Amino acid sequence: MIVLDKVNKWYGDYHALVDVSERVHKNEVVVVCGPSGSGKSTLIRTINRLEEIDGGRIEVDGRDIHAKGADVNLLRAGIGFVFQHFNLFPHLSVLENCTLAPVQLKRATLPDARAHAMALLEQVGLAHKRDAYPNELSGGQQQRVAIARALAMRPPIMLFDEPTSALDPEMVGEVLQVMRSLAQQGMTMVCVTHEMGFAREVSDRVWFMSEGKILEQASPQEFFNHPQHPRARQFLADRSRN
Ligand SMILES: Nc1ncnc2c1ncn2[C@@H]1O[C@H](COP(=O)(O)OP(=O)(O)OP(=O)(O)O)[C@@H](O)[C@H]1O
Ligand SMILES: [Mg+2]
Repeated sequence: MIVLDKVNKWYGDYHALVDVSERVHKNEVVVVCGPSGSGKSTLIRTINRLEEIDGGRIEVDGRDIHAKGADVNLLRAGIGFVFQHFNLFPHLSVLENCTLAPVQLKRATLPDARAHAMALLEQVGLAHKRDAYPNELSGGQQQRVAIARALAMRPPIMLFDEPTSALDPEMVGEVLQVMRSLAQQGMTMVCVTHEMGFAREVSDRVWFMSEGKILEQASPQEFFNHPQHPRARQFLADRSRN
């Protein structure tokens, strides 16, 4: 579903992604972890072309994401992306947030878009908030709306960049629960997260990044029980101490 082939990225003279080659299969859940500044966000942002690359190739669902002349807006609209800071449209209701893109970009009819959005809001437990505005919701609720909004475009894959790290601790669980149920439904997902419990329980593969490279990729059992690379061992030891 996603093919990364010798992907390289520079910020000026800083080599942010170094020969990254990996694959994500359909229905697979990959958790990307690693120290701050290791390139996790950069990597995931290249997959929907929020960042350009300087070498290599990225394919999503058979399409060359960085092809010259590609319609970037259309590409992005087809890949669900949820950020750390939920960026809902503040002047639109919850329901309108979820119907805007399908109507404008996919030319869905408003009744169809509404029906689908309501089903998704039901799924994230927020159907009763359809007429609320983002500033009337808790952080966890806003993040769940952000997930529903991304799903409204029926994307074949969902990317998450630390979707819970800006939330108060008591709201982390409700967002992880929505992600867990998406995974159970077979959504293909790449999640940058520091939630190692989620990684252990839900992921199929863990990618460990350090200094722009994927140093280790393993099943969660292998990764957490027998990390191979010294930096992966150090990373896990640091986390278990906190
Ligand atoms: N727009 C940019 N311009 C220059 N350097 C950048 C830019 N974005 C990121 N970097 C650098 O690239 C490296 C990787 O950054 P990135 O945000 O991908 O790390 P990360 O693994 O997501 O870290 P964190 O866990 O803190 O979110 C860092 O050294 C960062 O300073
Ligand atoms: Mg990041």
